Amino acid sequence: MQVSVIGAGYVGLVTGACLASKGHVVTCVDLVHERIDTINRGYAPFHESGLDALIAEGLNTGKFKATSNLELAMQESQVSIIAVPTPVSEQGIDLTAVSAATLSMGQILRRKQGYHAVVVKSTVVPGTTDGMVRSILEESSGLSAGEFGLCMNPEFLREGSAVTDFLNPDRIVIGEWDNLSGELLINLYAWSDCPKVRTSLRNAEFIKYASNALLATLISFSNEIASLCEATPGADVDEVMEGLHLDHRLSPIVDGVRVRPEILTYLRAGAGFGGSCLPKDVKSLRLFAKHKQVDSQLLDAVFEVNERRFQQLVCLAEQVLGNLKGRIVTVLGLAFKPGTDDLRDSPAMRLIDHLLAKGAHVRVYDPLVCHKVDVLLAGQVKLCRDAEESVSGAEAVVIATAHPEFAGWDWQQLCATMDKPVVIDGRNALKGVSLPPSIDYRTIGRHYAVSNKSKCVPR
Ligand code: NAD
Ligand code: UGA
Repeated sequence: MQVSVIGAGYVGLVTGACLASKGHVVTCVDLVHERIDTINRGYAPFHESGLDALIAEGLNTGKFKATSNLELAMQESQVSIIAVPTPVSEQGIDLTAVSAATLSMGQILRRKQGYHAVVVKSTVVPGTTDGMVRSILEESSGLSAGEFGLCMNPEFLREGSAVTDFLNPDRIVIGEWDNLSGELLINLYAWSDCPKVRTSLRNAEFIKYASNALLATLISFSNEIASLCEATPGADVDEVMEGLHLDHRLSPIVDGVRVRPEILTYLRAGAGFGGSCLPKDVKSLRLFAKHKQVDSQLLDAVFEVNERRFQQLVCLAEQVLGNLKGRIVTVLGLAFKPGTDDLRDSPAMRLIDHLLAKGAHVRVYDPLVCHKVDVLLAGQVKLCRDAEESVSGAEAVVIATAHPEFAGWDWQQLCATMDKPVVIDGRNALKGVSLPPSIDYRTIGRHYAVSNKSKCVPR
């Protein structure tokens, strides 16, 4: 099929390159010219494993290209997939980009011959596709829904494994205005034999929010248990969670072997969830509930537990060092999770803000992101290039993102470069690593005695 994808970000570019690899002819459209140039040179404008190779393959076979020319892309395609950002404001979901894209698309549909389907892949609150999107398209095209196709096809990929996730979906959800629109998407995804859920536009929108809300809820649940363990001498959240995971309803025994589903990773305590989606989608859903005059007590709590969570790392640093003013603290990991260079809503960035506000001298290291941070942190922190530069002479090291690289470092040797080695592991990233006996190693989810001089006061 001929496909255009509007928005060449994490979702749009991965969708476009993957669909091209499955034989479709795809044009990705974006407003940012620099982004298009980078893509057409064969590179993704961000780090995503396997994506550069797919883009290069698509450019070589002629099945993939990027452009800023929406008209051309739509004239050459039968289906247009919207993958533009849907941030959240104090009022609720911000649909500015979706409505701008939809308006331009409707104007082009007015001039276009033949049937064309519009697919919303951006995460939007229930009622958006058959409400705002449909009415803008109808008004600007002069057509009625049905004369053009309309679908809502949420995306479930994770950053860091986006290509693998897209190419191996666990489900494909097709919210459809009518049967014809839905059939078009069945053809688009004919290469996958995963379950395809055909449903209404609103149910598709809900499935996406419910999925992300569940992940966020599991994380906050684990983190609330961690907070309780932190207040209980002798308790260790890791052991508590391991015992919980063994419930056969969470990890069934199949043919005598314990199966550990991936969902269990969301039942591990840490420094809280971040990223471009879980925080914003929980916020959007809460504001959607408010708008509908429905109580969202659980989501409110999920959000609040998360807001407080990363402060535990600051507390642990204060417990060990006392006043942070003038103290040298190294933060390891800046991205919101391993395997990505995405800093959007990263708990590590918030941690750094808190440390700086308390007067600490902050050093940072992240294997994938350091080049971007120069601009973002505007000279307020020292950027380090490797393990030794990060750790040597630091008074405390705080691990904020569990990049696998950290577990491979020689901590015996690195700790020898610190006067009194202190490592605060916010992600349990050094579990199983051999650490020197001299180290003061602290992790979340355990109780540490608070001395009089070092009171832990969250900001
Ligand atoms: P992103 O910020 O990485 O990319 C969005 C792109 O859209 C940018 O390149 C931007 O320049 C472009 N854009 C904005 N307005 C445009 C317009 N009118 N015409 C053409 N291009 C335009 O965003 P993202 O992370 O890919 O997220 C996109 C949507 O997908 C959001 O709704 C998000 O919630 C959802 N989503 C994201 C992920 C993820 O892992 N990032 C996963 C599932 C769903
Ligand atoms: C998440 C979902 O997993 C995807 O299915 C969804 O498509 C996507 O949001 C989206 O809608 O954008 P992603 O944000 O890439 O994907 O990352 P996750 O791996 O889910 O992690 C999100 C955050 O939760 C990270 O900050 C991570 O460190 C944190 N996390 C995750 C925990 O704190 N604890 C855990 O046990 C698991």
